[in-house]
This record gives sequence, structure tokens and C-alpha cells, in this order.
Amino acid sequence: MNNTLEKAIKTLPIKGYLDIEVPKDINLIDEINKLKKEKNAVILAHYYQTGEIQDLSDYLGDSLQLARKAKETSADIIVFCGVHFMAEAAKILNPEKKVVLPDTLAGCSLADSCTGEGLRELKKKYPNAIVVSYINCDAGVKAETDIVVTSSNAETIINSIPKEQEIIFAPDKNLGAYLNKKTGRNMILWDGACMVHEAFSMERIAKQLADNPDAELIAHPESETPVLELAKFIGSTSQLLKYVQESPVQKFIIGTEEGIIHEMKKRAPSKELIPALTSDESCACSECFYMKRNTLEKIYLCLKYELPEIHVEENLRVQALKPIEKMLELSQSIK
Ligand code: 13P
Ligand code: SF4
Repeated sequence: MNNTLEKAIKTLPIKGYLDIEVPKDINLIDEINKLKKEKNAVILAHYYQTGEIQDLSDYLGDSLQLARKAKETSADIIVFCGVHFMAEAAKILNPEKKVVLPDTLAGCSLADSCTGEGLRELKKKYPNAIVVSYINCDAGVKAETDIVVTSSNAETIINSIPKEQEIIFAPDKNLGAYLNKKTGRNMILWDGACMVHEAFSMERIAKQLADNPDAELIAHPESETPVLELAKFIGSTSQLLKYVQESPVQKFIIGTEEGIIHEMKKRAPSKELIPALTSDESCACSECFYMKRNTLEKIYLCLKYELPEIHVEENLRVQALKPIEKMLELSQSIK
């Protein structure tokens, strides 16, 4: 191993990514594509990544679509351009493959709000409950879970569980409250939330709607109830994209992470797309700071050195795999 690489690896646990300078005179996109081919790697990207990363990816999708792609790929290396829980789920599904995340500090406030230990404690209070967890959680939480869901399949999966069955829903209280309303259930909710969707301001969005009477608000169910009450359509990232593409309406206020607007513009070029306002008046944006940690430079380095790699201890992986497989089995009808 050369000295630079050795030094870089030493700094990895602190910085979360390879601390090596990328040569200035290279074309990053060309180099990434070359390395990808040489190493039989595949780049999976979520809609909240930057536009340039979305354009570079082999597969762009929501959490469910990316988990499926990760399971079925024939590539030797999966470069996951998303956040840690997504790359970890890819590794859980595909232990024989190398899964790399350009920046391991690409975390998630929602996933951080819950631990396996905390969930175990809550389960003791409700011994008859089963646990349904949003995929935005770590392997320790998944290991304590009966069925994993994403925002694309949560309603279908919850409706497939007998009405009298008590359910603990973790970790997103906003998605959980939305699902309780949609399914007429009274699931016990873990008290977690997404910092990006919680930042939306109901008052400022109401003003946006008043100023744009021809616009519809569409929102991700990770948003708080008052924001969702203003929305004409609520759905996962892929469902929001489909809605904008197919609706006759020309103007939308977008209540989710603004990275999605890149793909929305491609699919519906004639439509006007306005990011929903957050309570931070100094900024009109709703960026996920974690998602945006990934950059072209970090993708190049992670492909070149095949680092930082995601590892999941085998016992934990086997436990965490069961509820993910259950989800895939129960959501075959969902695109
Ligand atoms: P989906 O793309 O599955 O809707 O998830 C959104 C999200 O919060 C990812 O972090
Ligand atoms: Fe987590 Fe929210 Fe960022 Fe998604 S948008 S990764 S839920 S913090």
C-alpha cells in the first residue's frame, strides 16, 4: 500500500472520506466512467443527490427502487450515492459485493433518532406489538424490526397486516402519523423526524400558495401534518415525480428535498417547479446536508481506492435482512 493511501485511510474514521487530493487536470466524469468499466462497478443514486451525480449514475431511484437494484445487480462494486442507511441496506442484501459510500458521514437525522437498544426497550412495553420500520434506520434497528417499509410501499404493507394487530412504527413520527390517518390505525410512533422535511414552514407555504393560486403543493410524507394538510398530493419521491409528469397542472410547489427538481424538470420540462419554503428566511432551499456530502471528487476517489467500504457484522446482517426481504416480498406490485 502506498504512503498516501495509508495516510488517507488513517484519517478515514475522522473525516469519513478519502483525504487525497484529486489531480486538477483530469476530467472527473471521464475518469469515473473509465474506472466504473474497469472495475465492473455500478453507481446507484437517490433523487436527492446533486444533478451532476444523478446524471452520472447508472440507476436513479427512490429508496425502494435502489434497494431492488442493489439486490439484483451483477456488478462487483456498488457505489452508493445516497446516505449511509441506504448503502448499508445494499450491503445487507448483497454481502458478497463491495459496497462503497463516497462519504461515510452522509448520515440521516431520522436514522440517528433511533437505536436498536432503544427500540428493544419500547418493545418490552408493548409485548404484543409487531415492529414496522421505515427503511431510514440503521442495521441495529432493522434487526429489531418485523417488516421494513419505504414511503412507496408503507401504506400497502400496513394495510396487509390484520387490523387488530398492534404495531410499533419507527423511526419517523411524521410518516407514522400520516400512515395512521391513511390506514385508520393507531400505531405506536417512535419520536424521530427528518430535519429537512421538518424545516418546511406551513405559514410560508400557505403564503406561496396564496401568491400562486394556479399552483399545487405536493409533499413527501416525512413532512409535518400542517404542511401535509395543505398538499394536493402526498407521496414518495418516485410518486411525486410521476404525479408532476402526469398531472395537467402546470405549476407546483415542491415539498421535499430540492434535489428532486433536477429529475422533475427533465420529465416535465414545460412545468414551473417552485421549492417549498422553510422556516429559515435567509434561505429558500431545502437541501439535505447529508445527501449533499457526496461529490464527484469523492466518487472518483472511492472508485479508485474502493473505499470507504460499508461493512455489516454477519449476525447483525442476517437479522436485518429478514425484515427487508419481507418488505420486498410484500411490495412486488409496487413499481
Ligand atoms: P424515498 O425516495 O423513498 O421517497 O425516500 C426519501 C428519503 O427521505 C430518503 O432519505
Ligand atoms: Fe435523512 Fe431527511 Fe436527509 Fe432523507 S432527507 S437522508 S430522511 S435527513
